Amino acid sequence: MSKIILTGDRPTGRLHIGHYVGSLKRRVELMNKGDYDKFYIEIADAQALTDNYDNPAKIRENVLEVAIDYLSCGIDPSKVTIFIQSGIPALCELTFYYMNLVSLSRLERNPTVKSEIKMRKFESIPTGFLTYPISQAADITGFDATIIPVGDDQLPMIEQTREIVRSFNSIYGKTLYEPEAVLPENETCNRLPGIDGKAKMSKSLGNAIYISDTPEVIKEKVMKMYTDPNHINISDPGCVEGNMVFTYLDAFAKDEDFVSFAPEYKNLDEMKEHYKRGGLGDVKIKKFLINVLNREFAPIREKRAYYENHLDDVVEILKRGTDDAIKDSEVVLKKVKAAMGINYFEDDSFVDIYKEKYNKE
Ligand code: TRP
Repeated sequence: MSKIILTGDRPTGRLHIGHYVGSLKRRVELMNKGDYDKFYIEIADAQALTDNYDNPAKIRENVLEVAIDYLSCGIDPSKVTIFIQSGIPALCELTFYYMNLVSLSRLERNPTVKSEIKMRKFESIPTGFLTYPISQAADITGFDATIIPVGDDQLPMIEQTREIVRSFNSIYGKTLYEPEAVLPENETCNRLPGIDGKAKMSKSLGNAIYISDTPEVIKEKVMKMYTDPNHINISDPGCVEGNMVFTYLDAFAKDEDFVSFAPEYKNLDEMKEHYKRGGLGDVKIKKFLINVLNREFAPIREKRAYYENHLDDVVEILKRGTDDAIKDSEVVLKKVKAAMGINYFEDDSFVDIYKEKYNKE
């Protein structure tokens, strides 16, 4: 079995630094390791439309933003196929066949879908939205992908995909592969909270720092960051748990950052100890975090500026990736249709059955 990696994002906004530590950085690492036969990243515009069908302009606008974020973070289109979901007809076909294998109550039980429904306050739930996990199963199986790097909020989608694969294989014969989720190792990276410390970083909550934010905006956001509300005087002992500056330092600070920007500490543990003891002020740790973030994102911002000035190249990359993905998905669709016996013009037994039945030769 070949090693096929696939993951994706909904193009509903620019990607933020939570996406970066939670997934983009890891994708680049996986890409550089090179231990795969094929690596796909899907811009899931059709899925994004399931709850933004009334605002297609938003999705359209963000396809390029997300693509530029990928490229500036170091995704190399010669090693990774970046494609647009709606450009791949086979995925709709697969979705339609898989729908027979999933009950309505199973969809209604999906924990991620359930919490999204609550959050979005749908008056009534669009069928397209309720069934998006089936379409995501098509995204994955449509390329025979088995390695799916995602955050833990996507586990119900992978489980749904596995169930569809098992059900398909048991009815139509072994055709599809069961995928596995690959989760980030580091809990902080899995769910980077917003600068308000309240919840996961997200565009809708207005608590995100974007990969494309300028140094000025990063500074402004870090200075506003939620720390320890009881740490009033510098000399007071401070709390590092739930203190966003330390949470972000957990995710981003490297030992070399201490050498460059805070040589009085060897590492983050020492800095945390000082803060807990008292005597280390919030402005100082915030300035350190600003330096850490700028070092990480300066080269990314530079690449972003390059692609923003070479948009035709970005479009060409997406076009090529999508064409490549169309070809690969058609191979899988063919295999699926053959297993289901709906490949009429490619299989003589289609007519042979009739010949036998009516004794024609
Ligand atoms: N549901 C994913 C998200 O919201 C995006 C996605 C679509 C995806 N298709 C996928 C992720 C296939 C992994 C594999 O982030």
